[in-house]
Amino acid sequence: MLGNFTYHNPTKLYFGKDALEGLGEELLKYGKNVQLIYGGGSIKENGIYQEVLEILLACGKNVIEDGGVMPNPTSERLKQGAALARKHKGDLLLAVGGGSVCDYAKAVSVSAYCDDDPWEKYYVRFEDPTCKIIPVGCVLTMAGTGSEMNGGSVITNREQKLKIGHVFGSDVMPKFSILDPEFTYTLPERQMVAGIYDIFNHICEQYFSGEDDNVTDYLCEGLMKAVVSASRKAKKDPRDYEARSNIMWAATWALNTLLDKGKTTDWEVHMLGQAVGAYTDATHGMTLAAVSLPYYRHILPYGVKKFRRFAVEVWHVEEKGTDEEIALKGLEALENWMKELGLTMNISDLGATADMIEGIADATRVMDGGYRVLSRDEIVKILKESL
Ligand code: NZQ
Ligand code: ZN
Repeated sequence: MLGNFTYHNPTKLYFGKDALEGLGEELLKYGKNVQLIYGGGSIKENGIYQEVLEILLACGKNVIEDGGVMPNPTSERLKQGAALARKHKGDLLLAVGGGSVCDYAKAVSVSAYCDDDPWEKYYVRFEDPTCKIIPVGCVLTMAGTGSEMNGGSVITNREQKLKIGHVFGSDVMPKFSILDPEFTYTLPERQMVAGIYDIFNHICEQYFSGEDDNVTDYLCEGLMKAVVSASRKAKKDPRDYEARSNIMWAATWALNTLLDKGKTTDWEVHMLGQAVGAYTDATHGMTLAAVSLPYYRHILPYGVKKFRRFAVEVWHVEEKGTDEEIALKGLEALENWMKELGLTMNISDLGATADMIEGIADATRVMDGGYRVLSRDEIVKILKESL
């Protein structure tokens, strides 16, 4: 049952080939000091940096450079970014990049004027911000996380070997996001497919929960089919605009507060993947791919009806045999598609070793919204099967 909820998503989107034209209009709404946040240099190579900089300068902005944000941004780096924003009185944090850059910008937005340690406050105690929040805008260059239209911000603490996400409220969500699918053309194939699996798994995390007849599940199935179809075209031709634009749009809708309506939602694959990421610093989508099948095979008996529906509706499995047999064929189809994309299918290929299993299990949060609340032994078993 859907139950009661309030729905509000404040992020304004500019989508398509000329989306960057919207930036000037947005910049008018903010003060002079813009902290320009980006990653390790891809935007300088593909020219997006120059395009954005020209618009900023034409709008008379004072640009505060904050480049070099790493994939899987760290708590140490967050402190530097927050100090920079405070020192230069940033009026807007403009993230130009993928989920890492966008997540980091949101974390900086709630940390610049926070007198507490932001890691402790937001990622250990999960408190809400109580200080002034600097607005965030985003120019997206990689499709996957949905960070462009949600309040999620994932930060890694390397010292403590923890990777934790805080989902902030609508006051932290980007005020606007620029989504030009052509900006994703220069992504290496490995990143493109990791992003595609991230999208697909965000949908799964929300779909594999509940037993009711819920409009959200139908939306999920449509989105999953769109992602599979577009992924095959994009893999064949990365410059297929139709495919890349479908992937970008699906990514945004997969995790922008729509698909969790009326759902308890699972997120255990993400908890396992993030714990693997804390130990290996591996690409997010690949960590999810590497643990997914052992996890889903393990929980299938507890959610057979939904796994059967997944097999039939998403993968068009013939309705012959027992429910469990049909459900298993759905997971086989999922596995075949993942291999076709070239995803990393085990955690040892991401740098995890058998002696890390106990530590990774310790770093895995147990969720209670899916079909099974995992015991520690079950987590260890799934991780061993993922090796
Ligand atoms: O750093 P640069 O040089 O920009 O290179 C990046 C990076 O190496 C590169 N890249 C991005 N756009 C490119 C490009 N290279 C060439 N051309 C382009 N157009 O791709 C690499 C990966 O970028 P990153 O931002 O790390 O990837 P992604 O978008 O997958 O973000 C991953 C982070 O988001 C978190 C993950 O945990 C991880 O820390 N997540 C955030 C979520 C949220 N906000 O809701 C949910 C997700 O489940 C996820 O946990
Ligand atoms: Zn994800």
